[in-house]
Amino acid sequence: MSFKHRSIIDTIPSYKQGKPAPKVEGQRSFKISSNESAFDPLPSVVKAIEGHALPHLNRYPDMRGWAVVERLAEEIGVKPENIVLGCGSTEVITQLVQLVAGPGDEVVYPWRSFEAYPIIVAGAGATSVQVPNLPDGSHDIDGLINAVNEKTRLVIVNNPNNPTSTSVAAADAHRLIEAVPSDVLVLFDEAYFQFNTDADTSVAMDLFREFPNVVVAHTFSKAYGLAGLRIGYGIAPEDVIDGMRKVALPFGVTDVAQTAALASLNAYDELTDRVKSIISERNRVVAALKDQGWEFPEPYANFFWLPLGEKTDEAAAQFLAAGLSTRVFSGEGIRISIGEVEANDLVIDVCAKLKAAGF
Ligand SMILES: Cc1ncc(COP(=O)(O)O)c(C=O)c1O
Repeated sequence: MSFKHRSIIDTIPSYKQGKPAPKVEGQRSFKISSNESAFDPLPSVVKAIEGHALPHLNRYPDMRGWAVVERLAEEIGVKPENIVLGCGSTEVITQLVQLVAGPGDEVVYPWRSFEAYPIIVAGAGATSVQVPNLPDGSHDIDGLINAVNEKTRLVIVNNPNNPTSTSVAAADAHRLIEAVPSDVLVLFDEAYFQFNTDADTSVAMDLFREFPNVVVAHTFSKAYGLAGLRIGYGIAPEDVIDGMRKVALPFGVTDVAQTAALASLNAYDELTDRVKSIISERNRVVAALKDQGWEFPEPYANFFWLPLGEKTDEAAAQFLAAGLSTRVFSGEGIRISIGEVEANDLVIDVCAKLKAAGF
């Protein structure tokens, strides 16, 4: 049907969700395509939801998520007025883009990076300026700096970067912020920061304390394992938070999500142990693949990137046949999440077979 609509929407690529685990006869299969936590939800989180959220499903949630906001503010060492919640950090990023950029404005970000960026920017009617990553998958800081002009309303840094899992060094982040006019915001999307073991990494909260124009996006989806509940948060100067709240989806963050987030903050030690075990599994997989002769960027998130170029689809088919759904970027490479130990073992096996087959 032909209907009147904003033509910019026709330019938006559809978001491709990671595929579910494939069905392979007589074998367990795994979904390692969405950088989720492979751990079951924490019993204390499930209990909190049952006790505190399920009985109130007939009520709207606290729109500001005040209990979570105050708790985060205390832990992070900022004012509650510096924090906004969103339905995942995806919504937080959307709020920010909606606030600062519209038709004629530009949003500069590295590419490849999080696939929601182009969708969010086009949705706001603004223009994406994508700066290709360096050959090693890391941000091209000079390229990002050079892309900034008088139309720029936002620069996005993704640390560690999805899908290449590379880290952004503190010195590079400084250089970038210093080159951006102080009235242009710089967003540090740190969805995976808990997994970042890079000794030189930039820490967005340090930058937030040093520069007036830094915004930080964090999420409960990854290290906290709450991807299904959709809750994330932004940290920004008060007036930026005020603006973001104006465009936030009203009542978007459910009471179930808020309750689970609070319970997760109470389970910090258990969650930190889980993060450590994911990092140790990552190190095990990386060591095995390097032994096999693979070359790929050192990963700093809960996933790694195999740059397979032309051979990407062929390799992806082998992962699928082995019961593994990965995130495939045809012609570029495959992003593989660190999953259950058994899934990681299968990844190592498939990679060995691919190497033996000349990949
Ligand atoms: C880099 C990056 N930022 C943000 C997100 C958003 O996650 P969520 O909306 O679940 O918080 C993701 C999710 O995959 C991501 O990879």
